[in-house]
Amino acid sequence: MSQPKGYVDPKYLHIIGNQLNHIKQRSYALMQIQLDHKVLDLGCGPGTDTIPLARLVGVNGQVIGADYDEAMIAEAKQRAEQAGVNTWVKHKCVDAVSLPFETDYFDSCRSERLFQHLFNPAQVLSEMTRVTKPGGWVVVVDTDWGSLSTDSDETDIERRLARFLAESSLHNGYSGRKLYRLFKQQNLADISFEVFPVATPNYALARQGTQSERIEQEALKAAVLTSEELHRWQTGLEQADSEGIYFGCVNVMMLVGRKN
Ligand SMILES: C[S@@+](CC[C@H](N)C(=O)[O-])C[C@H]1O[C@@H](n2cnc3c(N)ncnc32)[C@H](O)[C@@H]1O
Repeated sequence: MSQPKGYVDPKYLHIIGNQLNHIKQRSYALMQIQLDHKVLDLGCGPGTDTIPLARLVGVNGQVIGADYDEAMIAEAKQRAEQAGVNTWVKHKCVDAVSLPFETDYFDSCRSERLFQHLFNPAQVLSEMTRVTKPGGWVVVVDTDWGSLSTDSDETDIERRLARFLAESSLHNGYSGRKLYRLFKQQNLADISFEVFPVATPNYALARQGTQSERIEQEALKAAVLTSEELHRWQTGLEQADSEGIYFGCVNVMMLVGRKN
């Protein structure tokens, strides 16, 4: 399969998942999972969340992880087997726009950092709502890439790169800020939201998390900045890093609502 816009691999998801563990744990709590529940993790990647969810629903529950990337699903299946949870955790290759699950099937559904990749997020939220039981919780976590900020004196370059990342390297890069509107339009009840700043003074980690190498090269190709500007930008950040003063931050939003 050719790699879609914003493609990330399991290794990236593992590194970033460790940084976002507090957000993941909060999303599980908001799903109000009980023993024997059936839960869905949509856009599950290599099973980062389905295995912790398996422990929450217990052996008589059911966890379905769904993702359209065959390689992610193969990795997730292997991890579930290694973790000994594969009898009640299933991973399926599925496009999120049309879910092959019965209406009112799951006790709760979650999705993390999937929506930024979507052409039709409203359709996907509608599908998540459809497959959730009345009264069940739908939880969506996503980044607002428009909030990406890096401390630099090159503010103009910084803004151009952040905007390029949000608008050109992802299909729905402003996803986080749009979730409240989507939840309201879906007519979910008891909607609430939480915002998590993800900040780091670790330049290497920030470059990895924002896929800077790829974004910078794409931005250069798209003439968003010149090679001289890119050099200035990178040199400035390397200097900040060597002085121990690098700082970057982005906001992650979590929306929760209940199916009527
Ligand atoms: C940034 S990763 C997040 C993975 C996982 N939720 C996590 O938190 O580690 C986004 C995932 O969404 C999947 N994805 C993107 N578009 C999709 C679609 N239309 N249907 C199903 N999965 C999709 C990708 O294959 C990828 O595994």
